[in-house]
Amino acid sequence: MASASLLLAWYDRHRRTLPWRGTRDPYRVWLSEVMLQQTTVAAVTPRYTRFLERFPDVAALAAAPWEALAEEWAGLGYYARARNLHAAAQAVVERGSFPGDSAGLAALPGIGAYTAAAVAAIAFDEPVMPVDGNVERVTARIFAEQMPLHAAKVRLARLAAGFMAQPEARARPGDFAQAMFDLGATICTPRRPACALCPWSGECAARALGIAETLPAKAAK
Ligand code: ADE
Repeated sequence: MASASLLLAWYDRHRRTLPWRGTRDPYRVWLSEVMLQQTTVAAVTPRYTRFLERFPDVAALAAAPWEALAEEWAGLGYYARARNLHAAAQAVVERGSFPGDSAGLAALPGIGAYTAAAVAAIAFDEPVMPVDGNVERVTARIFAEQMPLHAAKVRLARLAAGFMAQPEARARPGDFAQAMFDLGATICTPRRPACALCPWSGECAARALGIAETLPAKAAK
């Protein structure tokens, strides 16, 4: 089993300093995860800070007219994200507070499984694994999963949840989730992964087979 403690030790040495990493305020964590879904860390970083200056808390966002939010979202793309953000902010204000766990978060309009898990892990220390493309790629390689991604998604999510089930990960869910994101973004990259620098290289079945770069497999055309 890929050891959670090895990955966490790596994260403690190499964690990226990012503006959303100094907070456990669910509103701020949520905003960062929504922005990061289809936009790169480099593009999100300045826009995240600016957004929070304009809409510093969930009440401010809920009360803002859609036009103000759309203006602030300009250039980030995927405006459905901003629509969902607005609707969920209004639902939070209506119910009086943020839900305190991933199931409650997932019940808000427009908050999907990934976002609910990421916010719950980072803001609430709930040991749930948010599964994004980075996490799928790392997991596919560790287990040398050679099925095409679309067919392997459910299995990869289950395997990734298994990482989080280790006691060392359950003790630090937010760090463990973000360690997986960082590993996928900086070491276990889609092309030319830096396996020589990877804390899990000794436990990676794809590396042992020499096929890391080919995974996750694409659907046959
Ligand atoms: N991608 C998605 N969520 C992230 C996070 N919290 N930190 C870095 N990259 C991410």
